[in-house]
Amino acid sequence: MAPAAAPEGILLRVDGRDVVCPAEMANAPLAAFLKGKAGVKSVKVACGEGGCGACAVAVLEEKDGKTHLRTFNSCLAPVYALRGKAVVTAEGLPGGAASKVAEAFDSHHASQCGYCTPGFAIACHAALHNAAAAGACGGAGGCGNGSNGSTANGSNGHDGAKPVLDGEGLRQALDGNLCRCTGYRPIVAACKSLAGAVADIEDLGALPAPPAPAPPAAAADGGVEVLPLGHGQLLKAPHSLSTLIAEAGALVAAADGKGGWRLVAGSTGHGVYKDWPVDECVLLSVTEVPELKRLDVAESEAGAVLAVGAGVTLEALASGLDGLAAAEAGGKGAAAGQWAAESAAHLRRIAGKHVRNSATVGGNLALAAERSLPSDVATVLGGAGATVELALITADKQTNGSIVRADLIDFLATRAACAVPTGASYIITAVHVPLPAAGSRFWSSRVAERYSNAAAVANAAVQAKLSADGSTVESVRIVYGARTPASTDKVVAAHNAAKTVNVTAALLDGWVARRAAAAEAALVGQSPSTAALATALAALTSSDLAAAGVPPSTAAVAEGLVAQGVAAALGLTAAAPSRLPPPPLVDGVSDLPAPVPELAPVSHPTGKIGAKLQASGTAHYTEDAPVHEGALFAALVTAARAGAELKGFDPSPALALPGVVRFLTAADLFPGPTGAGANAADRFPGTEPLLAPVPGRADFAGQPIGVVLASSPWMAARAAKAVVVQYGEVTDAVFTIEEALDKSLLYPIGLMAAWMPKGSSLGPAMSLCVQGGAVEPALAAAGAPAAVSHGPAAAAAAKAAAAAKAAAAAKAAAAAKAAAAATEGTDKVAEKGAEAPAGPVIEVPAEGKALVEAAKEEEEARARGAADGGGGGGVDGAAGGKKRVVTGRYQTPSQLHFYMETQTAVAWPDEDGSVVVHSACQGTDFVQAAVSVALGLPLNKVAARCRRVGGGFGGKATFARRIACLAAAAAVATGRQVRLQLPRNLDLALHGGRCSTDVSYTAVLEEQEDGSAPKLAALDVHAVCQGGAYADISWLDPAALLSVIDGVYRIPNIRAEVALTRCSLPPRTTVRAPGDIQGTMIIEQILEHVAAECGVDPEQLRAANLLQPPAADPAEENPIIMTSLGKRIPSRLYTVPRMWHRLEVDAGWEALKAEVADFNASNLWTKRGVALVPARYGMWRGRKPAYVSILADGTIQVACYGIEMGQGLFTKVAQVAAHALGEALPASQRPLDMGLIKVMDNSSELLPNGGVTGGSTSSELSCASVRLACLKLAEGLKKQAEAKFADKPDYTWKELLTSTGGIMGATIALSAFAHGDPTDLPEAAGPDTPGPVEPDYSVFGVAGALVEVDVLTGERRVLRSDIVFDLGRPINSAIDLGQVEGAFVQGMGMMLAEKATYDPSYGGGLEQNSTWSYKPPAASCAPQQLNVTLLSDAPLIFNGPLSSKAVGEPPLLLSSAVLMALQRAANAARSTAVTVLGNGNGATANHFQPLLAPATVERVRAACGGWSAAELVKASSA
Ligand SMILES: Cc1cc2nc3c(=O)[nH]c(=O)nc-3n(C[C@H](O)[C@H](O)[C@H](O)COP(=O)(O)OP(=O)(O)OC[C@H]3O[C@@H](n4cnc5c(N)ncnc54)[C@H](O)[C@@H]3O)c2cc1C
Ligand code: FES
Ligand code: FES
Repeated sequence: MAPAAAPEGILLRVDGRDVVCPAEMANAPLAAFLKGKAGVKSVKVACGEGGCGACAVAVLEEKDGKTHLRTFNSCLAPVYALRGKAVVTAEGLPGGAASKVAEAFDSHHASQCGYCTPGFAIACHAALHNAAAAGACGGAGGCGNGSNGSTANGSNGHDGAKPVLDGEGLRQALDGNLCRCTGYRPIVAACKSLAGAVADIEDLGALPAPPAPAPPAAAADGGVEVLPLGHGQLLKAPHSLSTLIAEAGALVAAADGKGGWRLVAGSTGHGVYKDWPVDECVLLSVTEVPELKRLDVAESEAGAVLAVGAGVTLEALASGLDGLAAAEAGGKGAAAGQWAAESAAHLRRIAGKHVRNSATVGGNLALAAERSLPSDVATVLGGAGATVELALITADKQTNGSIVRADLIDFLATRAACAVPTGASYIITAVHVPLPAAGSRFWSSRVAERYSNAAAVANAAVQAKLSADGSTVESVRIVYGARTPASTDKVVAAHNAAKTVNVTAALLDGWVARRAAAAEAALVGQSPSTAALATALAALTSSDLAAAGVPPSTAAVAEGLVAQGVAAALGLTAAAPSRLPPPPLVDGVSDLPAPVPELAPVSHPTGKIGAKLQASGTAHYTEDAPVHEGALFAALVTAARAGAELKGFDPSPALALPGVVRFLTAADLFPGPTGAGANAADRFPGTEPLLAPVPGRADFAGQPIGVVLASSPWMAARAAKAVVVQYGEVTDAVFTIEEALDKSLLYPIGLMAAWMPKGSSLGPAMSLCVQGGAVEPALAAAGAPAAVSHGPAAAAAAKAAAAAKAAAAAKAAAAAKAAAAATEGTDKVAEKGAEAPAGPVIEVPAEGKALVEAAKEEEEARARGAADGGGGGGVDGAAGGKKRVVTGRYQTPSQLHFYMETQTAVAWPDEDGSVVVHSACQGTDFVQAAVSVALGLPLNKVAARCRRVGGGFGGKATFARRIACLAAAAAVATGRQVRLQLPRNLDLALHGGRCSTDVSYTAVLEEQEDGSAPKLAALDVHAVCQGGAYADISWLDPAALLSVIDGVYRIPNIRAEVALTRCSLPPRTTVRAPGDIQGTMIIEQILEHVAAECGVDPEQLRAANLLQPPAADPAEENPIIMTSLGKRIPSRLYTVPRMWHRLEVDAGWEALKAEVADFNASNLWTKRGVALVPARYGMWRGRKPAYVSILADGTIQVACYGIEMGQGLFTKVAQVAAHALGEALPASQRPLDMGLIKVMDNSSELLPNGGVTGGSTSSELSCASVRLACLKLAEGLKKQAEAKFADKPDYTWKELLTSTGGIMGATIALSAFAHGDPTDLPEAAGPDTPGPVEPDYSVFGVAGALVEVDVLTGERRVLRSDIVFDLGRPINSAIDLGQVEGAFVQGMGMMLAEKATYDPSYGGGLEQNSTWSYKPPAASCAPQQLNVTLLSDAPLIFNGPLSSKAVGEPPLLLSSAVLMALQRAANAARSTAVTVLGNGNGATANHFQPLLAPATVERVRAACGGWSAAELVKASSA
């Protein structure tokens, strides 16, 4: 290969091609160069901070004479680090779209939106390649292969031969990659299938030829490589330690301090801390220094010592420890082997593999020392008694490079203690770890929100040595790390938001890593026993943790970890506390309906269109729209503080940066009458500005206030941070529901009554209320306290109503006054004022009023009926069983959007004043309309286009519009193409997710004389949802919440009311199953509570209260079940009871509950929980247009309105089109080849008027219209066939099409349009249809979850989930299976870890604004066993295309089972603690305590009881 550093730039080889990176990009992330300049599409930047793996690529390296693939995050690695190296991306995998990995992903349905898929593909390929090169199964532990992902209809596994990669190896390979869509089961299955099928490297195909070894550029014999990085920066890469020290000394001397230079190693640190300066003049690289790569064991007087060079990567250290463990295992050095294995396992839980492959030990410790990184390296090595070796860097040549050694933990605590002057420069050169002496035992572990790739909440390492006879603790060393009040989340968020707080101050106490000196002292000299352990834990809590200022919730976790560590290191009995084992990767059995041959390809699990393109990274997304000459890249300037006065800007620092072209404000972009442009859903007053006007006021932190345009995305991002925003005072910011209620800040969601089912009514206009039966009498009859019926919503609504009344009165008075001054119309005006509705701002629409009246009448009728003792509501059995009243309060959390593709748009001006916008959106109509309003253009001058979206889940329904509008406006303003893709931090911070909810409820239960589970007699629910600064479409949350609040239960008297507050937070929007999940969680939680209070089994309670089909009435052809809130369900379609039975009895969950009870009775430290829940999702639908054209060669273009965002819409549509068009063919020629069909990009030019893709319904609506259009075409073609092929009954499609050709075009219509809905389809009015078809239908499912909880640390695992779902007759069961699994796991994220909080102390900004702190599920979080059954004998519905049902959102509701199961496990832990400790811990055995979502480890630990580990250990050993 040519010299690595060509003068004109940096040479590297990408997928076998030599490419040169211009010098000015040499310090840019590799991903930016690959995408921007090297034409690589497969690299996706979904986070830009090492947290998701979407950008993963691999570098070819020589290892033991073989080619090794080292994966890394191209979003972090700078281009210069790859000089002279060969990089492989997913595009370069052997075979391209036909690579082994692409084939496996395709055949296992392992990609949905596909945005994560290239990253997974490279991770999987590299792991297989390396394992095959190593020639053996990659690690310890069983492979778990064989059953994974097998279906009842087929098999997927390997042939039983030993897999090249085992389960542990695969978990490690995939632990740096996130997928938001699939739920991981199919990805794991695809990778496992390859692990079984690949025996050696050749099986994977040949990689692009590796490069010739790069000559040691400029730096032979310890010289220094010098590389210009553009913009005045230099890379200096010394090739020996002495030169490194000399260079550093010279830099210190020259710069008179540290400012102008920085050491660089793996460059992963800025994945965590993004406020690093980027303009140091010199980057001094440590990675080429051989001395810093040492990893060897040397004998010393004190024994053997492992020397770890600072430049050793974490993965290399773990591999080295593996070797040590293997060498020492069982031999003389067994203690060292045990230590090595334990340490390696802990190190491999740090970050993801791609990070570990680059991150160095020295970099980690430097970050721990200087920036309070929650370091695991420090704990693992410090726990083993490591010392750190530093070279002090001074301007004085004599002293420069003097070596200092210090205890690692002391060094981290304070530099001064180890002779490093405060603020002095140093280079960490090595860490020396004494190998443990014989008889020692080491233990090291961590607790985090995910098993891997999540920063630790706490970690600990313990090393102990007993006396020779084992009777006494000779020595013990306990090191722990824990979060402290200025949490790491906040620190990192502050860094990422930059400029929002004094980050230096916050950094001072984000994390402590310390010796537990008091606990150690308590143990030494004691006999190794649980009593000694208890004493040590007491000392730990009262002295060590308290002194370090660790908050109680974290201290409890740390204490639990130390308890486990000490127990293990002392070798205490099996009954002592111990940690949970590593979670195996998800496995699962899927039972799918058999395909129906005559419907082919419909009902067949065909592969997803584009799956191989996705896996090979060649599928195009919005960002892949061709880059125009002179294109500009946009970045947003945002407000840092909610409620702050925005006084002005100083953009000059940004404009001074190279390549920065413009800074634009609202006044520049939207000078028209709409001011700053419109973004709101226009339901309520208060249109959200696209950019907040300046001067003005920031409505929420993260609100966009300006746009920077530059010639590259990274320079634009840098410039956006450089713009100085001048803030004034902060006023009137409101961050909590309570504050908003207090100030009556409510949206008038009563206006949404028109959307609600019949029977809904308006409360005051500021709330929405649904009711069935007569709640008030039922509550009164049961003696329920009346106050409970006035929950927070009611109180706020009443307050708002009072305010409204006052306003109305004032208005009336003013009007009267005005009228008095006038001579005419007095009476009229006064009368109008007096009539003002309770919600004063908005006039209630006529249909809403009609509903109110109808509802009132209905309620009165029901009340009358109840009073008469008649049916139709009232208190069931009023004279019957004893009533019990249960009241409670509950909260459901928000959940943010984490679609892998962040919001993106590319726009350019077209001729005639038109504009073209490519937008990653859920509806080109919405984008077209918003751009049209923002730019004052007629709709037909705005072309909105979208090919596919990298995940939407509701987040791109309305929010995509702002991004599209800003790109379009900037394009018009500059006359150039403008490209805008949000960084993950801003995408999270700017977009509010679901509404969180605060609920109070009263349930009345009626006990049954036969002793069976009580029946629900009445339920009164009052909820308040937390909205953002603008309503957007957040009104859907409360509206949908009400639509499912009655679940699938018979509740004769029910009322539910909800209000929506207005807080100074980012506007909330729809997130998959908006409102439905909150409603389901609430009703299921109420049942859990009721069951606990009544002392009955929750499943029996549910079963006893399920809606039941009416008693058979021979006169009734199609009996209807009425839900408690008046929704009609044809009885024959109501499958819940039989699915419930199938789960509970056939799948053995009833028996499992007994096993769990036994398990809990015999385990103190680990508890299990099991819960079953049913769910109902009500479909509401519209219509979507479709346009189908058959071309002369027989190929087919299908244009449908629905956007393909991973849900398989295009595939289903193609299946339906092939089936319908196939009707024109003789049976012998069917089915029509799906390969002839291309589903076209969405475009407002081709197919407008389709609205949004969302609500689970677009696939079926698109299928319906495509089917209608195709049937029209088939009809014409059939006539053609009758005319042309009377003598040739087996004519082919090609022949048929050829027969339609003519010189003036086709002789018959070969294009057809439809804009129908499923009830227009022939099957909706077919001979089998039982009576009139309801326009809407319900989707039903049931699920069970089995979880395990470590009661000492709060760690939790989902051991198993079974889901039974009724999806009718799926169009593609494989796609639907993927939707079920993916939705369930996405919902689990909300239940477990996706915490989203806003902290007023730094401006009301989102605390979890990065992958560091926001934690969607990773592969290790998915249920270890995930079994899905799609009912194969589901009743046929007649209002879904070909009897299929919608699937995208409904399964998410079932994830509530996981939370309920965790709650039961925690309740079991508390009950046991009561038994062991007595009632002293504040809990009684039957005391129900809600576990709120997300059930983070700290919450779970707290829910297990307020006891300390010391108390429990002591009591358990007594
Ligand atoms: C997504 C993600 C997740 C992570 N999760 C964890 C985790 O769970 N636990 C954990 O412990 N860590 C975690 N980390 C931190 C990670 O281990 C560190 O980023 C990494 O070790 C830093 O090493 P580096 O070589 O990349 O350093 P760089 O990023 O190159 O440098 C980091 C800092 O160290 C300085 N530096 C580098 N080498 C030396 C040296 N020899 N002497 C003195 N100063 C030096 C640099 O000047 C710079 O200031 C995570 C990181 C990421 C990106
Ligand atoms: S984009 Fe690089 S890890 Fe997420
Ligand atoms: S398929 Fe993985 S993120 Fe969409």
